[in-house]
Amino acid sequence: MTQRTLVLLKPDAVRRGLIGEIIGRIERKADWRIAALELRELDRGTLEQHYGEHEGKPFYEPLVQFMSSGPVVAMIVEGERVIEGVRQLAGPTDPIAAAPGSIRGDFGVIVRENLIHASDSEESAEREVKIFFPGRD
Ligand code: PPS
Repeated sequence: MTQRTLVLLKPDAVRRGLIGEIIGRIERKADWRIAALELRELDRGTLEQHYGEHEGKPFYEPLVQFMSSGPVVAMIVEGERVIEGVRQLAGPTDPIAAAPGSIRGDFGVIVRENLIHASDSEESAEREVKIFFPGRD
């Protein structure tokens, strides 16, 4: 099942020099490939679109603030079962609950600074790819 997913390396991952480490884990998976990649700062409008479903939740404002605190790496990753697969590599939202060996389990401690975003379904992936890479249909 070839899929594509939207992956963001969050500002903490960029600040801490973990871009290569995280991309390496993704690249080493058989069959997966990076189809687009960009280092960029996210404006509030983009973040409101991306995280719109969470508006009103207690973590929404801190999340938007954090995601605009520095550049992120935005990527489209394509390949076999890549949507579930990248989320498995990332580990659960709370890094302390994430198993060693996962990205969050190896490098994260606090929930807000959990290093990586990956689309959670085919519908989310299509929506998010359009937000970050318009014209890449
Ligand atoms: S929910 O309500 O279950 O859908 O939320 P969840 O999927 O766990 O998280 C949605 C996104 O919010 C981020 N998040 C937080 N950011 C900052 N602070 C706190 N406390 C917090 N809790 C959750 C979480 O990392 C998700 O963002 P992405 O970019 O998808 O990882």
